Amino acid sequence: MTSDVLVNSSELRKALGTFATGVTVLTACSNKGEMTGLTVNSFTSVSLSPPLILWCLASTSDSLSIFRSAEYFAVNILASGQRDISNHFATKQVGKFNNIKFKRGLGDAPLLQGCVTWLQCKTVKLYEEGDHWIFIGEVVELKTTSKEGLIFNQSNYAISLPLPANDNESGTPSELLHSDSESYFSLLFQAIHSYQENFEQHQHEIIESDYKARILCVLNHYNSTTITEMHKVIKIPKSEIEIIIHELISSGLVETITNSENNALRLTQSGKEKSNKLLLILHEHDEKINQLLGEDEYQQFRVNLQKIIDWNY
Ligand SMILES: Cc1cc2nc3c(=O)[nH]c(=O)nc-3n(C[C@H](O)[C@H](O)[C@H](O)COP(=O)(O)O)c2cc1C
Repeated sequence: MTSDVLVNSSELRKALGTFATGVTVLTACSNKGEMTGLTVNSFTSVSLSPPLILWCLASTSDSLSIFRSAEYFAVNILASGQRDISNHFATKQVGKFNNIKFKRGLGDAPLLQGCVTWLQCKTVKLYEEGDHWIFIGEVVELKTTSKEGLIFNQSNYAISLPLPANDNESGTPSELLHSDSESYFSLLFQAIHSYQENFEQHQHEIIESDYKARILCVLNHYNSTTITEMHKVIKIPKSEIEIIIHELISSGLVETITNSENNALRLTQSGKEKSNKLLLILHEHDEKINQLLGEDEYQQFRVNLQKIIDWNY
């Protein structure tokens, strides 16, 4: 199927990235015992009865031949603490299962430890469409937990927090629970929400996206660094960092250091100016909170926040 409308694929990728999804690792094993797995967010439900799901695999994937020939595959839905697992399975490499804890499921497909949900599926249909293959699987076994899922939204990993109830509406019982003025959770959440809205507005006057801002600030801190080093600090998928860096280079904010053997990157003069502005608004926001609370309360507030972060009950 072709279309007369020419849509730029990087624009499309960006637009589709505004649709927040969960994150899964799809796994399978060949009849020769070769295991494979990759990070996937194209996974979605198709039908409850019969129980069908689908996901899409790039034709360029090293895993294609195993998934095409395997009778079964597993969908490992990642928990909020499994960002490193997502990054690991989103990187092409041999020995993907070294140092990974898993059990074997149907067809020997690996079931990764620590996930929210595992779906074991039998491939029932397979279509090649555009530059991807669509796999339809029938869910034959499942196990789920009450853990929080990992979210992927606009190139960033995220966790979900329920929105506080709107003051003008009477909320559902769960919203009312979280909107209880006695609840620390509700207060903390509302404080983060209000700070973020305020901060984002100022940040967007300088640069359009949060992840670009983070990369500029990392480059400002390290002077020069490689994508691999940056990936260790920022913890978003390496493939996303490569795309963002490419955009920052095109807009003249970042440059590669010539004569560098390992493709080091640094800020250009205008990149430095932008990142300094970003760091300044971060500092100014901190200062505003300091003024709002007064020095003693501000210091105590930081101590208290740290106590809650370290709290293990
Ligand atoms: C959050 C996220 C979602 C992804 N979703 C998909 C997807 O739905 N389909 C796909 O083919 N690749 C997807 N990828 C990219 C693959 O995980 C990546 O290209 C991987 O290296 C492919 O491995 P392989 O070539 O060894 O199979 C995604 C990557 C990330 C970080």
